[in-house]
Amino acid sequence: MLDEKITEKLIVTAIEQLDYSYTPYSNFKVGAALLAENGNIYKGCNIENAAYTPTNCAERTAFFKAVSEGVKEFKAICVVGGKNGELTEYAPPCGVCRQVMMEFCNPDKFQIILAVSPEQYKIFTLREILPLGFGPGNL
Ligand code: THU
Repeated sequence: MLDEKITEKLIVTAIEQLDYSYTPYSNFKVGAALLAENGNIYKGCNIENAAYTPTNCAERTAFFKAVSEGVKEFKAICVVGGKNGELTEYAPPCGVCRQVMMEFCNPDKFQIILAVSPEQYKIFTLREILPLGFGPGNL
């Protein structure tokens, strides 16, 4: 389980990422902070594109930064987001990001923190948000 101090750190870090979110098309800003088993925190924001399809979500930005540096074991991710960067409700990961989590994370252990502030958050396991997920263990 995550202690409160690291949970708060992940939430604050994810909120800081909203400043880097590149969203000229939707203006829906998302920030993520991914905690690796080794204690590193990988940061991510969403990065949009004029051709739309190449858009990368904040969660995948964080995962791909970590994996590209040789880190493939993870404990938790915090995701925050909202229109114009205003955090009024939870911003749950899209299906594609859940699938990327499934590739690298134990669905019963990996924790997804959805937050609107350091005081208001909810924690789910990957299994809870991706029941019957298809992963490496199925091949
Ligand atoms: N977005 C994320 O960054 N993460 C998600 O899991 C959901 C969607 C981004 C993609 C796009 O830039 C904007 O939010 C609106 O879909």
